[in-house]
Amino acid sequence: MRNGTTDGQGTGACAVRHIAIIMDGNGRWAEARGLERIKGHESGVESVRAVTRHAAKLGLEQLTLFAFSTENWKRPEHEVACLMELLERYLVDERDELMESSIRLRSIGRTEHLPDAVRDALHATETLTADNGGMTLCLALNYGSRTELADAARKLAADGAAGRIDLEAMTPEDVERALGERLYQPGMPPLDLLVRTAGEQRLSNFLLWQMSYGEFHVSPVEWPEFREPDLDRAVEDYASRTRSFGGLLQAR
Ligand code: FPP
Repeated sequence: MRNGTTDGQGTGACAVRHIAIIMDGNGRWAEARGLERIKGHESGVESVRAVTRHAAKLGLEQLTLFAFSTENWKRPEHEVACLMELLERYLVDERDELMESSIRLRSIGRTEHLPDAVRDALHATETLTADNGGMTLCLALNYGSRTELADAARKLAADGAAGRIDLEAMTPEDVERALGERLYQPGMPPLDLLVRTAGEQRLSNFLLWQMSYGEFHVSPVEWPEFREPDLDRAVEDYASRTRSFGGLLQAR
C-alpha cells in the first residue's frame, strides 16, 4: 500500500511498514451480550490471531498491539488475573503458528513486573522466535509511554553520570537520537499508522514519541469483531492520506 509523502526517498510514495493497534471495546462487546467482561478479552484473542495473520500476509514489517497498559492494574483483581492467564496461554499456544509464519515476537513495557508465569512464557517465546525473518509482532505489556520516556531519560542520565556520553556537548539532535536509542525497542521501524477500535479517539499514553508523525485511524468496530476487512479499511485510509512530515509536498 502506498501514499503520497515527502519522505526524503525521492519516490514521492512509501509503503506502510508499521501499524500499531489500541484494541478497545472488549468490555463493551461482552456487556452488550450479557457476558462477563473477560469473555470480551477471550474473543479479542481470536481477533489478535486473525489480524496478526493478515498483517503478515500484507507484508508489514511490524505490528504492535497494546495488550496491557501500566494503568490496567487498576482494573478489578479478577479481570487482571484473567487477562494475565489469557496472555500466558496465548504466548504458549501461539508458538507453532509464529514459527510456521516466521514471525518474531517482541515486547515493549516494564515486562519485569509481570507475573512470573507470563514473564517466563514471554521470554521463552521471544527466544524461540528471535531468529525468524518475517514480521515482528510486538506486544506492549505493562506499557506506558510516559514511563518509557522516563526510563529512557534515566538511562541517558546514568550514561552521562558514568562518563559514557557527554550530555553537555550534545546537540539537541544528538540528545533526541540518544533518547530514541534508549526506548524499549531501539530501532523500531517508524510508526506509520495507529488504529484504535470501538470509536475512541485518544492516544491513552501509547507510543507518544513514536506517533510524532504517525497517521491515526479510528474504527467503530469493537475489537472482538475486528477482522481482516477492518484492517484493510485502515490501510486503505492510510493510503489515501498525504504525508508531508512537516515539510511541503513535492509536485508529482
Ligand atoms: C481494552 O478493552 C482491551 C484491553 C485492556 C486488553 C486487550 C487484551 C486482549 C485483546 C487479549 C489478550 C491479548 C493478547 C495479545 C493475547 P476494554 O476492556 O477497555 O474495553 P471497554 O472500553 O469496552 O471496557
